[in-house]
Amino acid sequence: MTFRQRHLLGIEPLSPPEITDLLDLADTYVDLNRSSDKHDEVLRGLTQINMFFENSTRTQASFEIAGKRLGADVMNMGMASSSVKKGETLIDTALTLNAMHPDLLVVRHPQSGAVDLLAQKVNCAVLNAGDGRHEHPTHALLDALTIRRAKGRLHRLTIAICGDVAHSRVARSNVHLLGKMEARLRFVGPATLMPSGAANWGVEVYHDMREGLKDADVVMMLRLQNERMDGQFIPSPREFRHLYGLTAERLALAAPDAIVMHPGPMNRGVEIDSDVADLEGRSIITSQVEMGVAIRMACLDVLTRKTRGISGWAKETSSGEWV
Ligand code: CP
Repeated sequence: MTFRQRHLLGIEPLSPPEITDLLDLADTYVDLNRSSDKHDEVLRGLTQINMFFENSTRTQASFEIAGKRLGADVMNMGMASSSVKKGETLIDTALTLNAMHPDLLVVRHPQSGAVDLLAQKVNCAVLNAGDGRHEHPTHALLDALTIRRAKGRLHRLTIAICGDVAHSRVARSNVHLLGKMEARLRFVGPATLMPSGAANWGVEVYHDMREGLKDADVVMMLRLQNERMDGQFIPSPREFRHLYGLTAERLALAAPDAIVMHPGPMNRGVEIDSDVADLEGRSIITSQVEMGVAIRMACLDVLTRKTRGISGWAKETSSGEWV
């Protein structure tokens, strides 16, 4: 394996071989997770702390399950009942927990860049579980694993990423990852929900849903992130569904074997209709959740290989740099 990162803060610094190695390792954890004895001991004796400053169902649960299945001692910090509520800063909170000698910190934070900042202050591996609109690296990895298992490859697939791209860290991480793996990417949505400079991201931009979906191999719908909208980005949810919701009729414009994805949680009846979200053989939304556990196991595994004395992994030089 080639993975040489100290932290997992984003997809941007990863090389295609590092991504491929993580996906290959995650495939082995899918098999473990489907067996009757789901336990491994690779993280035995190690401590994992999950710090979620923003709500989560899928990411927090899967990181907890992943750590426990690999034998780590896992602690979920209840941030709502922590001293953050008394005004303690992110950095002081991190330094306090760091003094307890964790080996892994899993962090979700509403501010872009907050997880990166925290990683500079602690001496254990940090995994970004989603920071603001910036990156959600394990989500892009689980999406890639799900697509690769469904389609057999990532390269030369046409992937339409649809809806609220502007507020989506999932979209950003997916553009980095799927672009590195030579997929053909499209953004589909209203101009008000496109990130500035979207045309320079190496994607084709469509404002007409019918054109954007034409012959796509993968239709990746995004959640309308109402909590990140400080103004009016769409006339109304009803109008948005009318123009950009994924209906069965619109899905018929994609390739006949196109798969449907959504990172969750879904606004059913807004960005995606229930009959499409639940369409057997086409919707792989529950597979994404399953792959999330396996990919997080792979990430926890590789980021602790140095701690566990496994050679060939990230190394600290005499000047304190990680190479
Ligand atoms: N997709 C995703 O990150 O879901 P959660 O917010 O439930 O973790």
